Amino acid sequence: MSYFEKVLKTELKKEPLILAIETSCDETAVALIKNGREIVADEIISSANLHVKFGGVVPEIASRMHTTAIYTATENALKNSGYSFSDIDAIAVTYGAGLLGALLVGVSFAKSLAFSLGVPLIPVSHIRGHIAASYLADKTLEPPFICILASGGHTAIIAVEDYYNLKILGSTIDDAVGEAFDKVARVLGLEYPGGPNVEKLAKQGKNVVELPKMLKNHDNPFDFSYSGLKTAVINYCHKQNQLGVELNGENVACSFQHAAISVLASKAVKAMELTGYKTITVSGGVGANGYLRELLQKESQKHGFKLVLPEKRYCTDNAAMIGAEGYLQYKNKNFADLTLNASAVVSLN
Ligand code: KG4
Ligand code: ZN
Repeated sequence: MSYFEKVLKTELKKEPLILAIETSCDETAVALIKNGREIVADEIISSANLHVKFGGVVPEIASRMHTTAIYTATENALKNSGYSFSDIDAIAVTYGAGLLGALLVGVSFAKSLAFSLGVPLIPVSHIRGHIAASYLADKTLEPPFICILASGGHTAIIAVEDYYNLKILGSTIDDAVGEAFDKVARVLGLEYPGGPNVEKLAKQGKNVVELPKMLKNHDNPFDFSYSGLKTAVINYCHKQNQLGVELNGENVACSFQHAAISVLASKAVKAMELTGYKTITVSGGVGANGYLRELLQKESQKHGFKLVLPEKRYCTDNAAMIGAEGYLQYKNKNFADLTLNASAVVSLN
C-alpha cells in the first residue's frame, strides 16, 4: 500500500496533535496544536534582521534561512512541549500564498516528515490560516462572524459563514493595506518592517495632513483601494521637500494611519449591519496595529458586537494559525499526496 493509500485509511483521532509549519515569508515557524485550539508549542525563528539593510524581504535570503532554521524550530517545538515525533498525528503546512522558494522549504520538509512518520499531510492556505488565528484567541468562537483580513498581501472583509465557507464581501482592487504601510514607511525613511514603525511614529503626530477619501463612489461598498492613498502620501512628502519645508513625519504617519485604518473599521461595521452577525474578528499583520484594535473596541462597544482580537503575535505570521486551520482540514480528511507543490498565489476562497 502506498503512503497516500495508507493515510486515506487513517482513522481520525478525536483530539489530534498537529505539527504545523509556516515558511511563506521571513518567519520559520513551527507549532504543535492539540485538538484544533490548544497551542502546545509555538516556535518562530525570524530572518527579519537580515532584510533590514535591503528595505524589504530578499526571497533568496529568506529561503536559505528557512533551510537552516526549520529543523531547529521543529526540534525546539517538541523539546519545549515534551512531545516526540511519534506523538504527531498529522503535519499541516502552508503551501501558498507567499514567496515560492520560501514555501518550498516548508513543503519539502513537511512531505519528508509526513512520509517518514506515516501520517497525513495537510495543505493549508496561508490566508485561511490567518483567519483561523481567531479560533485560538477565543476557544468558544464559532462562525458566523465577520473577519477583517489585513496583511501585507491581502485586504478584505470576509463573511465567515461556517468553518469552511468564506464569502468575500469586498477586497482591495490594488495594493494591500500592509503594503501601503511598508511603502509609506520607506518614504518616511523608516526601517523594514514598515508597519510597526509607522505606528510608533504616528503616536507622536496629529491627523492634520489632508489625504484623499478612498473609493467614495465605487460599485462595491466593501472594496478597498490603497494605491491612491499611498501615492498621495508620497507626493505630499516630495512636494514638501521641493518647497524646502521640513517634513513633519509624525503628522504624515498619523494622518496616513488614520485614513488607512478607519476605512477598515467602518467597512467592517457596515458588513456587520448587512449580515446581522454578532461577532467581528481581525487577522493578518495589520491586525496588530494598536489604532485599529482601539477603534474596533470602541465600535464594538457602541454597536454591541462581540470582538475577538488575536494576540499581536498571532496576527503576524506564525505556525499556530496554520495548525488551527489544519485541524479543520484534518476533520474533512483534506490530505495531500507527496506531489504537493507550493503556490505563490492562492485564491481567497
Ligand atoms: O500577515 P503578515 O505578517 O504577512 C503577510 O501575510 O503579509 O503581515 C505583514 C504586514 C506588513 O506589511 C507589516 O508592515 C504589517 O503587516 N504590519 C503592521 C503592523 N505590524 C505588521 N501594519 C501596521 N501596524 C502594525 N503594528
Ligand atoms: Zn501572513
